[in-house]
Amino acid sequence: MKFFADTAEVKDIKELNDLGLLDGVTTNPSLIAKSGRNFKDVIAEICSIVEGPVSAEVVSLDYDGMMREAADLRKIANNVTIKVPLTLDGLKACKALTSDGCMVNVTLCFSAIQALLAAKAGATFISPFIGRLDDIHLDGTDLIAEIRQIYDNYAYDTEILAASVRTALHVKQVALIGADVATCPPAVIKGLVKHPLTDKGIEQFLADWKKTGQSL
Ligand code: E4P
Repeated sequence: MKFFADTAEVKDIKELNDLGLLDGVTTNPSLIAKSGRNFKDVIAEICSIVEGPVSAEVVSLDYDGMMREAADLRKIANNVTIKVPLTLDGLKACKALTSDGCMVNVTLCFSAIQALLAAKAGATFISPFIGRLDDIHLDGTDLIAEIRQIYDNYAYDTEILAASVRTALHVKQVALIGADVATCPPAVIKGLVKHPLTDKGIEQFLADWKKTGQSL
């Protein structure tokens, strides 16, 4: 499974990239606002660090506006992935952009049938938001399982990009189901390494090593 960082913070992206854990980046208008940086500048900087897909979201709601913004964003770098909302205009833009060789991430997916439409529109990625479903007392991981089944039934190659991932448990669940990508806040990705028995084992081995009086 691929890991994308769900952030516009360049420092965190560099750190994860240096660790070799990063396959791509997703941003959204809220994350850009949080970074306090110019949208195109920050996307250009991220694309210069990360080789994989970097999602940049359009803000127009109509097809023509989306296509205009996408044309502008695509000029930034080859790995820019245009993120469009799951609306009729968004699907139309998705079809046009993917037919023109551009990677597209269809975002704000909350139902399996929406995901089917995105696959039919040729989406490169579909982003089901699992944490936001959990927030309203639904199991977001059920949605990932339904989409996996539908895409496998019809051999769609749209990648399931599990989004709104909040915990290590979410990551494990979507990996077991077979999501292609999980996009997570950097702290969640770094936290995946943690296990109390790993820490305890290291402590014990170092204490015993000390007893040998040897050095390396
Ligand atoms: C995905 O592309 C979105 O940027 C993101 O995962 C949203 O997560 P949130 O629900 O935690 O804001």
